[in-house]
This record gives sequence, C-alpha cells and structure tokens, in this order.
Amino acid sequence: MQVRFDLIFLTQLELLMENIDQLKTVKFYSGVETPLEMHKVRVVQKLNLLPIEQRRESIYGAGFNTFLLQNKDVYLDMLTDSGTNAMSDNQVAAMSVADDSYAGSASYTKLEKAILDVFNQKYYLPVHQGRAAEHIIAKTFCRPGTVVPMNYHFTTTKAHIEMCGSVVEEIYTDEALKSKSDFPFKGNMDINKLKGIIEKWGAENVAYIRFEAGTNLIGGQPFSMANLREVSAIAKEHNIMVLMDISLINENLYFIKVREEGYQDKPLKAILHEMLSFTDFSYFSGRKVSCTRGGGICTNNHDIYMKMRDWVPLFEGFLTYGGMSVREIEAMAVGLYETLDFNVISHSPSFIKYLVEALDSKGIPVVTPSGGLGCHLNAGEFISHVPQTQYPAGALAAALYIASGIRGMERGTISSVRDADGNDVLSDIELLRLAFPRRVFTLSQVKYAEDRIQWLYDNRQLIGGLEWVEEPPVLRFFVGKLKPIGDWVEKLVAKFREDFGDSL
Ligand code: F0G
Repeated sequence: MQVRFDLIFLTQLELLMENIDQLKTVKFYSGVETPLEMHKVRVVQKLNLLPIEQRRESIYGAGFNTFLLQNKDVYLDMLTDSGTNAMSDNQVAAMSVADDSYAGSASYTKLEKAILDVFNQKYYLPVHQGRAAEHIIAKTFCRPGTVVPMNYHFTTTKAHIEMCGSVVEEIYTDEALKSKSDFPFKGNMDINKLKGIIEKWGAENVAYIRFEAGTNLIGGQPFSMANLREVSAIAKEHNIMVLMDISLINENLYFIKVREEGYQDKPLKAILHEMLSFTDFSYFSGRKVSCTRGGGICTNNHDIYMKMRDWVPLFEGFLTYGGMSVREIEAMAVGLYETLDFNVISHSPSFIKYLVEALDSKGIPVVTPSGGLGCHLNAGEFISHVPQTQYPAGALAAALYIASGIRGMERGTISSVRDADGNDVLSDIELLRLAFPRRVFTLSQVKYAEDRIQWLYDNRQLIGGLEWVEEPPVLRFFVGKLKPIGDWVEKLVAKFREDFGDSL
C-alpha cells in the first residue's frame, strides 16, 4: 500500500492550527512591551552594509529612486512585503512533494481544499499574481458607464478598472487620511458616501463594491467587521456584488481579533469565515497572504465563477495551475493554513507596532495607529520645509537610504501622475513606507532602523528636495530618475561622519 505522506502532513497541520489559535502574548519582567519572535531562523542570507560614501554613490546611480537600487547595496530591504516573506519549514517541505502535471495536478487539489478550509470558498481560479486576478475581474465586470466604489484604491487595481472604462470612487471615512489618529479601523467605508454613489449612479451601474483588507496605500489599515456587515447589508438590498481584496487579510483578521469588541474569544477560522460570508467573491496576491508567489480568485457563487473561468486558461494557464509552479501551489496551500495561526499573523503587526510607537513617542511623524504592512513615515511633516512639488517622500526615501542603507518605498506625489496640462497631481499625503516582510527582520535590525530614523529626524533641516532627470509617462515611480536640488546630500554625508566617526 502506498502511503500519502503529503495528505497526512496537511491533516496534522490543520489540527495544529486549530490548537494554537489563541490570543497569547509574552509579558516581560521589565514590563516593557517587546515583540518576541515565535520562530527560529534556520536559513539565512548574508547582508551588506556599505559605508555611507558608497551608499551616496549607489543612490546617485539609482537616480534617487529606491526601486533602482541593487540588492547588494541594500542593508534592510523594506521596499515591500510582496514576494519577500520568509517561508516556514512546512512550506519548504511541501514544495518537495509537488505533483508536476499540466492538468489535474494533485497539488492543485490540495490548494482547493485549503481555500475551502481556510476561506470557506468552494470555487477557486488560480492566477500568477494579484494583479492578474484584477485583470480578469475587471475584464468580466467593468465597462464604461459603471462605477466601482472602494475603501481605497491600490495602484494596479485602479489601472485595471479604469482600462475597462469604469470609474473608481474612493469612499473612505474622514479618519482614513489623518496621519495621526487612534481610530482602530481607518480602512472602513463611509456608509453615507456609499449610499450617495448608489443614488447618483443607480445600483445597476455599480459594477461591484470593492473592500480592500489591510488597506495598503493608507498605511496597511484594517476595516471592522461591523463596517463590512453594514456595507454588505446595503449591497444585498440593492443587489450589488461585494468583492474583497484579501491580499492583506492576515493582518486585517489579526486586528479584528485584537481590536474589535466581541472577537477576542472567537477562533481565527470563525472570524475569517464570517468576513468572507459578507462577500460575493474575493481575490488575493499569494506574494503577501501565503508568503509564496501566485494568487487567485475565490467565490461560493457558481455563476460568478463561470463568468470568469474561461479567461484563466487564456491569460494565465490551465485551470489547475494558472501560471504558478506546482511547488508554489504546494507552499501556498500550507501558507494559507498558517493564516489560522495567531503567532504567524501577529508577527508583522507586533514588530510594526514596536517601531511606530518608538518613533511616535519621540515626536517623529508616523502614521498611527500602527497598521499591518509597514511603518509609514509622514514625509510631508518630517521635512515640512520641502515643498510637495519637490517630492518630500522621494527625498526622505533617498535620505534614509544614505543614512542607513535601508530601502523604503515612496508613496507620495512621485507615485502619482500629471494632469492633462502636465502639472503634478499632488498626492493626498506624502508617505515613506517601510514595509515589514513577514518573519524576515530581527528586533535589533528594527532598532537599527529606529536609531537611524531618529538621527535623520534630528538632522532633517539638512534634507532638500528632488527634481526629475528622466520622467517616464506612465508608472514613473518604477523607473524614473531624479537628482537632488542643491548640495544637501553632501551636507548630510558630512554630518553623518561628524556624528558617527568611522561607523558604517
Ligand atoms: N492588492 C493589494 C492590496 C496589494 O497590496 C497588491 C500588491 C496587489 C493587489 C497586487 O498584487 O503584486 O501580486 O500583483 N502590492 C505590492 C506592494 C506590489 O508592494 O504593496 P500583485
């Protein structure tokens, strides 16, 4: 008899997840609230920390654009949490039992089971990453004359919806764009704005309502179950579909469990199932939620599934792989089960909270309350002397790299566009995002970031603005090149040497 170790292995994993889903924290004798790694590191990758003079050369070479830095020149890569998360030993082990085949792969069957167990969704369409799901969804449901209301957009989401002719309407609450706030659910939708849109456009012209879990561009901020329930009730009343982007569901789930009244004692699985019960369909980037690559679209509605199904073999690959390798599929199935482990999903939020609160307590402008994706510095306030037309978030990203070798991501006017007259469309808020790839950095690395940000803040008057050297017409933030206005970089490097001597 042949024993299927892979199946035994998954069942054990499921049992394990059921048992460890509890709210557990470790109290330190000193009383200081300190996040603790509930894993040990068994594979490591060497890092380089270049001297500041070489970091200055590297940022010039990259056109003051952190996307164009080479990894070998970066100490902590906090550009994104997408595709940069650490896998668990169980995920790596699962990759070795992958069932290679074009059609009918047993690995795919396991993933389908994980989607059913973890998300309680019957139908699943695999895609190669999150934006591929957005492509298929927009192609199926968006057309000119329709609108997609959402709590906040993500860059690729908006581009796909607009390419199909629909209009994006952001209906965030007044709290969402307040950088400093103690509102626990800044990702909520404004119910009155939603009602206004339905009235203005007519329910039949609302393609779907999109809820983004762990709202990325406003700082990884969650929505509450109460808000989701209310939106879902309005949608049902008007026969409008609710779509949820569940790429950052882990952290939104964590925040509902710890911040929302009535959820502390509920198992994570029950909370997750409740969240998804308010949706008609959902999609995810596996680069985030499962610490793998790939992605998918999930639903319990056969009609919705059938409307999209035939695009998958055309754009992505056959229905049992959708552009993913079977090894990714195996690791994804395990990664999804790990979503139900409180230790796994609390890791990033607790490390982010540590850094946000440390900086906030020193008066350094950060987005509060801490979210689930990264620590977001408010560049507009950090270097308020740099006008928005000189790209404060981009300038701060370059300055932090020079001061520390840390690579963050500009989320401000450089990531925006120009209007028809060629003027910059100034962004709502100038942020420097320092993403926390899941289970990647240690606490001393986080403390290093805290230290260098503090130094930069104390020397913020030295930082100046940027201007374009090469500006691509679309998605300019990816490959555009800029240069500093004046000699602020030289002054910053000189002050670093004065303060730190020959330290790296
Ligand atoms: N939705 C959200 C909320 C995202 O954050 C992303 C990607 C996508 C969709 C698209 O997924 O990259 O797999 O195609 N966010 C990355 C980031 C790029 O850096 O925040 P993808």
